[in-house]
Amino acid sequence: MNPRQSASSSVPEPAATGLDGGDGDGGNDASGRADRATARRSPTRRVCAVTAAGCVAVLVPLLGTGLVVDESYEIRLPGDGATALLRAVLLVALCVQAGELAGVRLARGVRGVSAGLPRGWSKRAAWVGAAAAVGQLLLVAGSGSPLAGLSGSALVDAYATRPGLPALLEANAFLLAALCAASSRPGWAGVPLAAVVFGEALRAHPETDTPEVGVALTLVHLTSTALWAGGLLYVLRTRWCWRQEVAAGRELLLRYARPAVLLFAAITVTGVCSTLRRLPLAETFSTAYGRVLLAKLVLVLVVSGLALAARRRLRREVALPGAATGPARAEVVALAAVVLVSAVLTAVPLPPAP
Ligand code: HEM
Repeated sequence: MNPRQSASSSVPEPAATGLDGGDGDGGNDASGRADRATARRSPTRRVCAVTAAGCVAVLVPLLGTGLVVDESYEIRLPGDGATALLRAVLLVALCVQAGELAGVRLARGVRGVSAGLPRGWSKRAAWVGAAAAVGQLLLVAGSGSPLAGLSGSALVDAYATRPGLPALLEANAFLLAALCAASSRPGWAGVPLAAVVFGEALRAHPETDTPEVGVALTLVHLTSTALWAGGLLYVLRTRWCWRQEVAAGRELLLRYARPAVLLFAAITVTGVCSTLRRLPLAETFSTAYGRVLLAKLVLVLVVSGLALAARRRLRREVALPGAATGPARAEVVALAAVVLVSAVLTAVPLPPAP
């Protein structure tokens, strides 16, 4: 056992996996059960699970958009499936990098930890985000066909269009964020990432009636989403690196959980306001936008339940180390699903203004 750990906490060691051990009656029981669960999970099964999850993550935006629009007999936007997929990739990249920036600050505030921080994913996330933004620009230039968009004149024309300009802004902002991540001041990436959020907010609100209100709502909604989802991912990765330092891992999750309540409140308020601005109640069940939003709300309920469960278990972590990790991991997965569905939401036709 690490000497620092024994100095800071008298709790037993966490499960080697950091997995939740259930409602058992002691840390050792929990550790044993978690170890057995991990032992049962063969590498082949893990690879299969990750591959299946990856396929679902690609197919939902790629095919889901068309399916839901065809079902509602609306007119599909050109290249809607590819747009949703690229937007999902861009949003995930934004969450990963923004979450890492916030997570590193949280982790550095935890005193007396001998283990290091997890390997940074920011640089790669920024490159992936830039590629997704360029892909969107090509889709705009080619009116839904990326190959047609490769022609120089189509690209130049696309810069001047309403959806083309934000895509160009986002591509450049991600490139700058990649440079910041590679520099000695990775924290500066916060500025270009804010430009990415601004680009998304501009893109999402082409309406002529009070677009500034919509832009402000999306700015808050998306910033809070990136910090919540990306921050939780980074905190869980860090807890894994600190699995021998039980008290530090618990303190980190506690430090994350406090602002996460405010982020959740901000997301809910701005999400409800955006819905009221965009979706007439009567169109909720008949339009693709309404149906996708309903699916998203079901997922948001699941996320809320998991977040509550993680909090409740966090209180019990003194006696049951690693107890909050299971629900918190499930929360990250459910948040990723919400982000995927949100990407679909941005690629279906807007219902007529209320
Ligand atoms: C776990 C909670 C949530 C997450 C992670 C989340 C995430 C997102 C993301 C990533 C977008 C795409 C923003 C863009 O790039 O345009 C979005 C848009 C949107 N979300 Fe959420 N959301 C959440 C909760 C909600 C809730 C509770 C509502 C409604 C009650 C809501 C309503 C909307 C609407 C209407 C949009 C389109 C916004 C716009 O007009 O720009 N969201 N959300």
